Amino acid sequence: MKLFKTYFISFTIFFIAASFLRAQEESVLNNLMPVPAKVINLNGKFRLDTSFSISVFGNPDKRIYGAASRMLHHLSGRTGFFFNQDYVTDTSKSDTAQFVIDCKKPGKLGLNEEESYSLNITPHKVELNAETDLGAIHGLQTFLQLLSVDDNGYYFPTAKIIDQPRFQWRGLMIDVARHFMPVDVIKRNIDAMAFLKMNVLHLHLSDDQGFRVESKIFPELTKLGSDGKYFTQDQIKDIIAYADARGIRIIPEFDVPGHSTSWFVSHPELASAPGPYKIERKWGVFNPVFNPTIEATYKFLDKFFGEMAKLFPDEYFHIGGDENNGKDWGANKSIQAFMKKNHIATAEALQTYFNKRILKILTKHHKRMIGWDEILQPGMPNNIVIQSWRGQKALFDAARKGYMGILSNGYYIDLMQPTSYHYLNDPIPPDSVLPENVKKNILGGEATQWAELVTKENIDSRIWPRTAAIAERFWSPDSVRNVDDMYRRLEIINYELEDFGTTQIKNYDMMLRRLTNDQDISALKTFVDVIEPVKGYKRHSQGVHYTSYSPYTRVVDAARPESIIDVHFRNYVDEFLKGNLAYKQSLIFWMNLWVNNYPELEHTIILSPILREIEPMSLNLKNISEAGLEAVRLISLNQKADKDWLDQKMKLINEAKKPYGQAELEMVSAIEKLIKAVKIN
Ligand code: ACM
Repeated sequence: MKLFKTYFISFTIFFIAASFLRAQEESVLNNLMPVPAKVINLNGKFRLDTSFSISVFGNPDKRIYGAASRMLHHLSGRTGFFFNQDYVTDTSKSDTAQFVIDCKKPGKLGLNEEESYSLNITPHKVELNAETDLGAIHGLQTFLQLLSVDDNGYYFPTAKIIDQPRFQWRGLMIDVARHFMPVDVIKRNIDAMAFLKMNVLHLHLSDDQGFRVESKIFPELTKLGSDGKYFTQDQIKDIIAYADARGIRIIPEFDVPGHSTSWFVSHPELASAPGPYKIERKWGVFNPVFNPTIEATYKFLDKFFGEMAKLFPDEYFHIGGDENNGKDWGANKSIQAFMKKNHIATAEALQTYFNKRILKILTKHHKRMIGWDEILQPGMPNNIVIQSWRGQKALFDAARKGYMGILSNGYYIDLMQPTSYHYLNDPIPPDSVLPENVKKNILGGEATQWAELVTKENIDSRIWPRTAAIAERFWSPDSVRNVDDMYRRLEIINYELEDFGTTQIKNYDMMLRRLTNDQDISALKTFVDVIEPVKGYKRHSQGVHYTSYSPYTRVVDAARPESIIDVHFRNYVDEFLKGNLAYKQSLIFWMNLWVNNYPELEHTIILSPILREIEPMSLNLKNISEAGLEAVRLISLNQKADKDWLDQKMKLINEAKKPYGQAELEMVSAIEKLIKAVKIN
């Protein structure tokens, strides 16, 4: 076994080294993510040494000095250089600096701001020009991604890059209500977003399961509604400043009128049913909803939103508005009487009445409204922004009616879809027939990380690296759509993201180690590397009733949303079946590995009962790999099999499609392809 492992490791290193070398030869200019609008390779090298220094000219916002200093420190960390310059300040204005930044004006965080930049890297000088410091910050990220090595050390390829975003709203939503995410989780994700040129972090701050921001006017909201897990106002200010320094807006969401149980633990008088209320511990859509027919609701929300409007500086304020099932409105006699008296026929119409009153409150506090697509009802003014989660059609309908909109449908990263699916989902698809004046209402999109099934340990692995591909969709020209090339660059970016503290790689080993009772993780890793959590909402419908108290430490929680080994393996199968025999050895290698992993993993499982739930899947992996090896042999020898052989193998395949522990084997369909490619007598 030992021999085998050594072979495996060298084989893997060989493959990684080969792809790394290829990437190096190809020039790191081809590895950028998001792909810039225009890159001209000047085929030379700018050498990095300790004399490297940065100067800033023009009239930028002060955020540029922090951003330039951070880049300097990243370069220092990557290269081990002790640069002569320690940090960049507003006195860094030397004409002889090797890296010169010039910004015309301070950038303002909000809609319709200039974010373009140009980067001119020549053998002895780098010029970064931008209209605003926000654009310059994007240019710094591009430069950082270009650090390269050759036999003589570190260098940057010479190039001219002219770049600007395709969409102005390039967002990520993090739900901190279902599972609270502390400040350090938010900050490392802000850093990762900035690296990918994203510019909006939307925080889902209240829901049935928790109220997550301190109110000084109503401290009881978090006292009774948060289990002590919430952001203080000082922490919120800290997050906002941290994001601002990186060119990122913070959009707060307080979800009303539904998704609101946690408010009613301390304020049952504002609800539509009598209560009392407790923090909700289960997941799903629940009945509690604000009573929109009493003035107390509006008085309370006026005070609370007024307080939050001062805390959160962004012009936009998200009121949620999704999934109000209307049941508690239907069951309340005085609400029904109010509707009758005011000729309000439906729950949707009552919610529109509520939204219009909320809009007045927000306007009074100098905010614009954004909400999920349910808020788009007749009579709403068209200065609101619609976040489309139920379908692209809602976005296009809103845009046609003159509403600004952003797309989240197709970017629900909590649903464990492959990166390619999200990547090809486009706020304005290539075949769109929308007229230009409608297209301009589509501001961009947001990936949404709902947090029922994640904790601070594994949330990064759900967000990254897939969201890097989404960030590219929002930034790069619409013609950038090559899925294979995206996956190639994504693997590189995934490692680079670690430099910003994201934990998607390092926490994987940690979680596997805990699962093995701190034994050797290698067999478990070989297995978990090729499984994924079940897709969509299926995890809630397989007999396990998850709550906020459930363990999120099982194999399914360690497994990545997308197995990159499966992505490669499927590619090997396709190439092999096209007649490219070079891939035969790779297929044999992987399937042998999976066959031989079975007894090793059995040994690990004996020592760790938490792993018993995946034991049948481990056996299935062995069985289908053996079948796949037979198929490769038969195809290679151009031999036929009989119908019984096929039936027997398909039985194994169908068995292997069954999920265990809410996870599924990923390469089943690729091995099925191999089996079905065998000629039958
Ligand atoms: C949502 O997913 N309910 C916006």
